[in-house]
Amino acid sequence: MNNLSDFQLKSPEAFQEAYRNSIDNSSEFWAEIASTFQWHKPWKEVLKYDWSIPSTEWFVEGKLNITVNCLDRHVNVHPEKEALIWEPNDPNDTVQRYTYKSLLAAVCRFANGLKNQGIKKGDRVCIYMPMIPELTIAVLACARIGAVHSVVFAGFSSTALATRINDAGCALLITADGAFRGDKKISLKAIADEALNECDTVKKCIVFQRTFQSVEWDNRKDIWWHDFIDGLSENCAPTIMDAEDPLFILYTSGSTGKPKGMVHTCGGYMVYTAYTFMNVFQYQPNDIYWCTADIGWITGHSYMVYGPLACGATSVHFEGVPSYPKWNRFWEICEKHKVTQFYTAPTAIRALAKHPTKLIEDYDLSALKVLGSVGEPINDEAWNWYDTHIGKNKVPIVDTWWQTETGGILISSLAGVTDQKPTFATQPLPGIQVALVDEKGRPIFEKEAEGILTINYPWPGIARTIYGDHQRYKEVYFSAFEGRYFPGDGALRDADGNYRITGRVDDVVIVSGHNLGTAPIENAINEHAAVVESAVVGYPHDVKGNALMAYVILYDTVSYTPSLYEEIRKEVAVQIGPIAKPDRILFVSGLPKTRSGKIMRRILRKLAAGEADQLGDISTLLNPEIVEEIIVGLAKE
Ligand code: WTA
Repeated sequence: MNNLSDFQLKSPEAFQEAYRNSIDNSSEFWAEIASTFQWHKPWKEVLKYDWSIPSTEWFVEGKLNITVNCLDRHVNVHPEKEALIWEPNDPNDTVQRYTYKSLLAAVCRFANGLKNQGIKKGDRVCIYMPMIPELTIAVLACARIGAVHSVVFAGFSSTALATRINDAGCALLITADGAFRGDKKISLKAIADEALNECDTVKKCIVFQRTFQSVEWDNRKDIWWHDFIDGLSENCAPTIMDAEDPLFILYTSGSTGKPKGMVHTCGGYMVYTAYTFMNVFQYQPNDIYWCTADIGWITGHSYMVYGPLACGATSVHFEGVPSYPKWNRFWEICEKHKVTQFYTAPTAIRALAKHPTKLIEDYDLSALKVLGSVGEPINDEAWNWYDTHIGKNKVPIVDTWWQTETGGILISSLAGVTDQKPTFATQPLPGIQVALVDEKGRPIFEKEAEGILTINYPWPGIARTIYGDHQRYKEVYFSAFEGRYFPGDGALRDADGNYRITGRVDDVVIVSGHNLGTAPIENAINEHAAVVESAVVGYPHDVKGNALMAYVILYDTVSYTPSLYEEIRKEVAVQIGPIAKPDRILFVSGLPKTRSGKIMRRILRKLAAGEADQLGDISTLLNPEIVEEIIVGLAKE
């Protein structure tokens, strides 16, 4: 039998050959890779799909448990190898280390607790936790027994948490008393309590004691984590899952109101995240890999938990923020753990670049072999800073383009193997068939072109549906262009076939690497009693990539007071979370609209970006005079 490492592509020629093979013999290509994993029962068919439904199934009728592949399999060969090195928020706190053996034991123990509570295969479990090892343990414990985890980022508000719990009908919530984030302490349990007032399906709430702050306690519902696992066995037989059984739900913002619960399944997701992890980061057995993401996002799921563990890798997980206690923290951690692969987001890079390079020079970063970027387009300046100051001009940079929906990386160079090009994600990975199309969906055949990205063939990691709303899945991803997956991004292609992602083509704005739909933010603002209507757009920001600007119309009866600014921002923080608060709010008497009453966001975006001279023809607007009013208002901002 082959090992996964036999499929590591180590030269441009090997990549070219694998790519060709993945197109010409797609099923054989993925079958060979998948056969390096441990299956309880082999699949009957590699791929069955019909994107007119749309439906995608990989490794049909194959049986497995992903935790066997992420843990047991490695315990058998290297039980004492470190799986996880956990770096706490406060550098004076103790680093925690989990070997594959001790991680499996902790996962099994917690899984037994879940079973005791009657949680079984298919039940949904919500996880709302800080970046501590217990978060990873809770995730894997769900997967161990076939419960579907739904991790909600701990920066979301109680309303956002409640919406997600109710959408998935979760039976249980796992949280913590509080979370440390830099010099702040966040009262997670209090937020969770507030959410649970709105959630009937949750019967129990498991609380890990992290900050030791005082919390409200309801004996009927709340159980301390330590009591929950007390005296339980460290063995738990894995529940055998179908390759297409759901593994998790992860919510992402859409251009309309409700968040979309993307459903990922067990078999294809495992194969895809492991294969892409190993190849993009050129992972080697003794590497120390660090991804700075939060497990509340897809990057954390795929490239902090499942991908690296499936490859038997050692990962650093970090609880804190790059600025605490000082802006040197990332480099201190890199030196301390001799990090070989470092994977972060452009927004972090831009924030770091604002600080003196002296903060870097004190540290030995010579172990670094690969730098990675994810979450938004990386601009030239940030790319060059990363390359010069962190990579010292000799460490390859992988700019990885993908989405919550794609499960794993679709476009990227392979570190040090295929060519990189600043600000370009470069080439599709094996198995990924990209087509650039125009607005009518017509493929663009010229090499050098700009258009809309589509993918016209399934890959194993694609999300299979939106939880509880397959129709919306079809509408959002498979209806814009028939027979193609539509990610919502625009792209530019150069003469060598490299892709640069130019940004969203829908009403999603990426702020500090977080996807935010403008519609839910507008809904939140409109909740304020003084507000009639609002429109939210993104505008370029030198650290966040994009920031949000809200144009707000107040009721005639309300007169403007300076406190409205904070009140409206607070409304957004309550409904969604602090990450969605608009930086700028302009109070206006109207919004530019088409004759059919549609808000002209393009104009609002230009105005927010300070490009009033590039509005084009506005005479067809229902109310062109409002544009002049906005320009005057902006001048006074
Ligand atoms: C954007 C994050 C340019 C893109 C993994 C995508 C990127 C959205 C890149 C998905 C990149 C992500 N270059 N843009 N390397 N990576 N994006 O679901 O617009 O949080 O559609 O997944 O982020 O964000 P999500």
